[in-house]
Amino acid sequence: MSTLEIKNLTAQVAAPDEHSEPKQILKGVNLTIRSGETHAIMGPNGSGKSTLSYTIAGHPKYEVTGGEVLLDGENLLDMDVDERARAGLFLAMQYPVEVPGVSMANFLRTAATAVRGEAPKLRDWIKEVRGAQEELSIDRAFSERSVNEGFSGGEKKRHEILQLGLLRPKFAILDETDSGLDVDALRVVSEGINRYRDRNDGGVLLITHYKRILNYVQPDHVHVFADGRIVTSGGPELADELEANGYDRFL
Ligand SMILES: Nc1ncnc2c1ncn2[C@@H]1O[C@H](COP(=O)(O)OP(=O)(O)OP(=O)(O)O)[C@@H](O)[C@H]1O
Ligand SMILES: [Mg+2]
Repeated sequence: MSTLEIKNLTAQVAAPDEHSEPKQILKGVNLTIRSGETHAIMGPNGSGKSTLSYTIAGHPKYEVTGGEVLLDGENLLDMDVDERARAGLFLAMQYPVEVPGVSMANFLRTAATAVRGEAPKLRDWIKEVRGAQEELSIDRAFSERSVNEGFSGGEKKRHEILQLGLLRPKFAILDETDSGLDVDALRVVSEGINRYRDRNDGGVLLITHYKRILNYVQPDHVHVFADGRIVTSGGPELADELEANGYDRFL
């Protein structure tokens, strides 16, 4: 049983030049996620949802100005990016980055080696990757392609979930993993998230604009994020209310 605690987290982006001030984006985020729980965050564009996920994962553009993020009591904010991954944190980015010249196969094996602390045995590993590809209806040929290069939007999102299944983190932050998916892909990706949660008792923070993924990936808690903080929390019914009425009453 693990716990991810975000306590009064504040963060800013650096000023683009010496004439401007840094911009405060996270304004005191409080959230606790336990193993096996799924928390959905919904909120207007520009409210700071991706900033929250980048800040937890350790993106250098975002400067923490206060608060802590504890994974089983250890402050992730004191760790560098790969230590956070080894500690059990995974981030699926809203816009997955392309890495020309690095094959998907190499990338996955390197990531798994780093997170597991030893290189998986080659024969087991090949089986493991093929199994995970099949579960997500990903063609084997993708292994030889450069990471995300030229992948369609939906193919990138599927590969984020492929990593999730292979790296088996304690906590996964999924930033709009459902955006741009066709109906079949949405189902496949959702099943991948549910498998991860069931097999690893993983905790999930799911950032989304759409209720439809929550029909497949049942959240235990739904939070409304506005102007850099969580302003309301509720159960799954909150997502229905947001879909019907929008964010007006929170702004
Ligand atoms: N590197 C940056 N430089 C300047 N402004 C930034 C930077 N990163 C984020 N911001 C600003 O911070 C605010 C929050 O952005 P963020 O991407 O976290 O929003 P979001 O809630 O994820 O929105 P969306 O729903 O559109 O994905 C926005 O106004 C954005 O322009
Ligand atoms: Mg975003």
